[in-house]
Amino acid sequence: MDWGMKNRLSRIINPRSGRCVMLAVDHGYFQGPTTGLENLGKTVNPLLLYADALMITRGALRNWIPPTTDKPIVLRVSGGQSILKELSNEIITTSIEDAIRINASAITCSVYVGGEYEKQTIDNLSRLVNEGEAYGIPVLAVTAVGKELVRDARYLGLACRICVEVGAHMVKTYYCKDFPEVVEACGNIPVVIAGGKKIEEKAALEMAVNATKDGAAGVDMGRNIFQSDNPVGMIKAVKAIVHENATLSEALDIYRTPHEGSRILQ
Ligand code: R5P
Repeated sequence: MDWGMKNRLSRIINPRSGRCVMLAVDHGYFQGPTTGLENLGKTVNPLLLYADALMITRGALRNWIPPTTDKPIVLRVSGGQSILKELSNEIITTSIEDAIRINASAITCSVYVGGEYEKQTIDNLSRLVNEGEAYGIPVLAVTAVGKELVRDARYLGLACRICVEVGAHMVKTYYCKDFPEVVEACGNIPVVIAGGKKIEEKAALEMAVNATKDGAAGVDMGRNIFQSDNPVGMIKAVKAIVHENATLSEALDIYRTPHEGSRILQ
């Protein structure tokens, strides 16, 4: 692996621990003004201190995030559909030149294995990997799940392994039963988990604890952090799990501590 590629990857995934807390706030690219991200800067900037990396689109980045930030950017470069249409119908929206101009530490697109436009999304990933290899920019493949597909180890293992075979440098997927099988099938490629739809904080933290125990390199979590009643507490709790192997009980104590923007009743 080239020096530049290694250097960018090590800005995202801590080279000592092999772990990462990525804050995902790219939802608007197909969901529009997602709850909590209407004023993206107001929500995200207080959280940035605790994140290792930020996953975001170029438009949101230029609108709401100060260019003085030292956080590595994982740039969402796919899109082209909305929640009103077939989700797998994605194209590449952002050129590699603009990703470089932004100083992205990685680029990312979704891959819809089993989706109507499966081949198109695998083609998107392969083109990003080819461009990323040319310029030393790693690619995060997001295994996106169609409405009626079961999120089990068999399906997610299939989706993740295809992304690995195409050349992704990191893979994001969902936590599931038998998760170690999914991780094992990805070889040396780090696997991070998405949070998914907002669930109760205890359940989200438990998922992070179990995922890291089962071999995840960390999280790429969005709604379960920024839609929490205590977003700063939540990201600090997730960080303690990922980087300090905090237990669920320790993480809950951190989450319950009042922080800026907390709506937890005391
Ligand atoms: C989904 O398409 C986006 O890439 C999100 O960034 C991803 O799903 C992670 O966010 P969440 O934890 O809210 O699922």
